[in-house]
Parts: sequence; C-alpha cells; structure tokens
Amino acid sequence: MESEIIQLPKFEDLRGNLSFIEEEKHVPFKIQRTYWIYDVPGGQVRGGHAFKEQQELIVALSGSFDVIVDNGDVKRAFSLNRSYYGLYIPAGLWRQMQNFSTNSLAMVLSSTPYSKNDYIHDYSEFLKFKEG
Ligand code: TYD
Repeated sequence: MESEIIQLPKFEDLRGNLSFIEEEKHVPFKIQRTYWIYDVPGGQVRGGHAFKEQQELIVALSGSFDVIVDNGDVKRAFSLNRSYYGLYIPAGLWRQMQNFSTNSLAMVLSSTPYSKNDYIHDYSEFLKFKEG
C-alpha cells in the first residue's frame, strides 16, 4: 500500500473555514491517538523512522512542512501546507518530516497507542523488515 493525500471536508463561509475528520471515513482506521509537533526550530528534522503497525494521517494544521515517504525502493516527497489535506501513511514505510516553517503545527492521527516497540529506527533493519 502507498501513501496518498486525502482531501478533507471543508466548509467555507463568511465566518471562515471548518474542516473535520471522522475515523474509518476520512481516514481508513480507528483513531487511537493524536499527537502534534510544534515549535520546531528551523532546519530540524522529525520522524526518520518506520512503524511496523502504526498507520497515520498527518495534517499541517498551520504553516508548512515536507514529508518524505520511502518504501525501501522509492522516496516520495509531499509538501503539506493546507489544513484540509491529510497525508495518509500506511504501516511499514520510512518517513521523515522536514522544512518546517516558523509556527508550523503538524497534527498526527495514529491507528495505534504509543508503543516504543513499533518503531524501526535503523534503516538497514527497515530494509530487512521490508524483505519479510
Ligand atoms: P518521536 O516519535 O521520537 O518523535 P518524532 O516525531 O521526531 O519521530 O517522539 C519523541 C518523544 O516523545 C519520544 O521520547 C517518545 C515520546 N512520545 C510519546 O511518549 N508518545 C507519543 O505518542 C509520541 C509520538 C512520542
């Protein structure tokens, strides 16, 4: 399975915009956790690992940043800069977040509770995991 941009609902009127996400509808999983990344100093990189089980949806609620998704074979770069687009990342992909703008806010919806054991931090271990 590949990562993809999901367009979220957007209600626009004179008072401003409203978007929302419902589990198993706008994201293909049950949302078990939400976390957010903010106050990232210029030039810093987040992520830089894979998850064995965690699926996720990443939304730039504010500002912009890039997500590089690597399936062990091909790397794809996604620029997130609108709060009505989410990047869906299935399990088993290496991903890194970079180029955070000042005051950017990255929201991550996750299909799993936090588990240290779900992380693959070593790239060669990731490639072995991909080989099965
Ligand atoms: P980490 O996943 O390493 O950050 P990155 O987004 O750069 O990959 O998480 C940073 C720290 O926060 C780490 O010590 C683990 C902790 N953490 C939790 O306790 N719960 C969570 O849900 C997350 C995402 C991280």
